[in-house]
Amino acid sequence: MYLKVPSHPDLKRIVVINPKGGSGKSTLATNVAGFLSSSGHPAALMDFDPQGSALRWLQNRPDEKPEVFGIDACERDTTMTRSFRMQVPRHIRHLVIDTPAALAAPDMAWFTRGAHAILVPVLPSDIDIHAAARLISDLLVVAKVSRRMGRLGVVANRVRENTVGYRKLMRFLGRLQIAVIGELRDSQNYVHAADQGLSIHEMQPSRVRKDLDTWAPITDWLGGRLDLALTPRDLLDPGPAAREGSAVPSPESGAVSYRGSAGRSPAARLTPGCESSLPDRARDPAE
Ligand SMILES: Nc1ncnc2c1ncn2[C@@H]1O[C@H](COP(=O)(O)OP(=O)(O)OP(=O)(O)O)[C@@H](O)[C@H]1O
Ligand SMILES: [Mg+2]
Repeated sequence: MYLKVPSHPDLKRIVVINPKGGSGKSTLATNVAGFLSSSGHPAALMDFDPQGSALRWLQNRPDEKPEVFGIDACERDTTMTRSFRMQVPRHIRHLVIDTPAALAAPDMAWFTRGAHAILVPVLPSDIDIHAAARLISDLLVVAKVSRRMGRLGVVANRVRENTVGYRKLMRFLGRLQIAVIGELRDSQNYVHAADQGLSIHEMQPSRVRKDLDTWAPITDWLGGRLDLALTPRDLLDPGPAAREGSAVPSPESGAVSYRGSAGRSPAARLTPGCESSLPDRARDPAE
């Protein structure tokens, strides 16, 4: 079965990924979506996280701010006031995808295949650096993301310069020869921005000056990436090992399609990461 979720041929995907919980995926995803929309590039934000952090951000977003089009990939049954439609209108050219924690390696390929940019936030702690080593190896080996093609950009998050953790993180990333496209400060401004449904770029500039400076290289990198055409390698099917039991994005249309067995129709059940959002009574006891 294929379940078509939002797309059109001009939609470019930006995926924010790191199976390590709390690394800053939702923070990065909401800030990128807010930045794009507020700079004249209307964006959609798709939330695959069972916690729904990105959609909560969207709920907080003031009506007068440029629209960020919300898509709930986990099909939560909520009483959200904003409507979350499944069809992305043609004028929206960018889809930012917030992925869940604890994503299995084979499912990563599902998200990364055909994406224009793959953003990986990493925290400067031993545990996070260790997890990032595994993640980057999975992206390169299992999801077949090419290091050379430059789709992969690491963002060091919650950075406090001149700390041991920061220096370790930068040494580690340098050794991997993966682009570190930016460093976000550990700043309460991100918490305030999330509470208000805003990106850092939409806050009062005098309050967030230092954070705006840290975003400049990230938005420059993104701008360059989104202007590049995908290569056949970027659309490469990672093979049966990565596909098994998972959903596969359709590279032709940029559409996200879900593949699953007949009779297990709810999107949430077929969507990597969404399963844990289902209440127990909704689970198939045979699973
Ligand atoms: N640069 C930052 N400065 C201060 N706080 C931050 C920063 N980045 C993230 N946070 C805070 O850290 C917490 C975790 O961030 P976030 O929810 O973005 O991580 P996540 O990777 O999406 O988590 P999960 O894996 O649970 O989905 C949040 O409370 C967020 O506000
Ligand atoms: Mg999250």
